[in-house]
Amino acid sequence: MKLSFIELDARARAFALLDGGTGGELCGPFDRIESPWLEPQGVVPQSDDGVVVVRGKLDGRSAVVIGIEQAFQGGGIGEVSGVKIATALSLAARDSRAGVPTAAVLLLETGGVRLQEANLGLATVAEVCSALLELRALQPVVGVIAGMLGCFGGMSIAAGLCTELIMTREGRLGLDGPQVIESEAGVAEFDASDHTMIWSIDGGTQRTRTGLADVLVADDVAAIRSAVIEAVWTTLPAASPPRCDGATASPCSANSARPFSSKPHRATSWPEPPRPPTPVPVSSPSPTPASPTRRPSRGACFDRDQSGRSTRLRSERLETPSLA
Ligand code: COA
Repeated sequence: MKLSFIELDARARAFALLDGGTGGELCGPFDRIESPWLEPQGVVPQSDDGVVVVRGKLDGRSAVVIGIEQAFQGGGIGEVSGVKIATALSLAARDSRAGVPTAAVLLLETGGVRLQEANLGLATVAEVCSALLELRALQPVVGVIAGMLGCFGGMSIAAGLCTELIMTREGRLGLDGPQVIESEAGVAEFDASDHTMIWSIDGGTQRTRTGLADVLVADDVAAIRSAVIEAVWTTLPAASPPRCDGATASPCSANSARPFSSKPHRATSWPEPPRPPTPVPVSSPSPTPASPTRRPSRGACFDRDQSGRSTRLRSERLETPSLA
């Protein structure tokens, strides 16, 4: 029977993706690490700051699933929630380097930087992107935008950096959210209440067709889990051992210290524009027409050296020994 993934909250989504009984939450609500910036602004904080980190096994391999809770502040990323994500990704990279290859799955339902935390949120989104790039060089980082909120703002950049991006028809992806476009450009330009129009532009079907997302999947727990497992296995380092099928012995603990080059990132270059017809020379030779200018690669700005990244508020609670 079909079981809706969208109807689950972030915690239930994270546990649903992992192999039954293998998940353990890190830095959970009882650790009470909440944002110090919300209460002074009259917003009730949440004791997990809207991010759920669950470590476990995915099809027998070590994995960490990081879920953003859309019901808390529109999934906005603040200082604490951003550091939880960045630290979880960094620890997965650390474990991968130490011989426990650990893939990551990001469940992206977020309005981007949490407006109440402004620059602190911006800084942590940068740290998330940096940590994602660090792990992506070692192990797959799979993004899932299931819906209904979608993935916007700075976190849409993180979505674009994932080795594989999975969406449902109900998911949405965009740099500027509908509310922001409407308030900047006016309702005539973009009506944030016109859901049909928004989904026809930002929705999973459109985003998959145009190559901004890789896989379109139905809103079903089993279908999304299969798509995530498939995405992890198809983007694994070439040096990785064969997948576990019960009888095969422990590939999950094998050391994949050799960095892998993930497949070319989507949308790193624009298609070559059509060449204008070459003018037929009349009598005297004319100068060669200038070749069409190629638009710059959209991915290029992310290809920078990631050394020296700082994490200001690194939670000790996340520094739990590997569960793998
Ligand atoms: N920070 C804090 N709160 C946010 C938020 C953010 N970045 N994005 C959304 N929210 C809040 C909304 O204020 C709203 O709160 P409320 O329920 O207390 O009114 C709640 O999340 C749900 O948002 P809403 O707009 O009602 O839902 P929606 O499904 O119609 O649209 C978005 C969701 C995310 C598409 C829309 O809010 C949006 O366009 N946000 C801006 C996204 C963006 O461009 N961010 C750039 C910042 S980097």
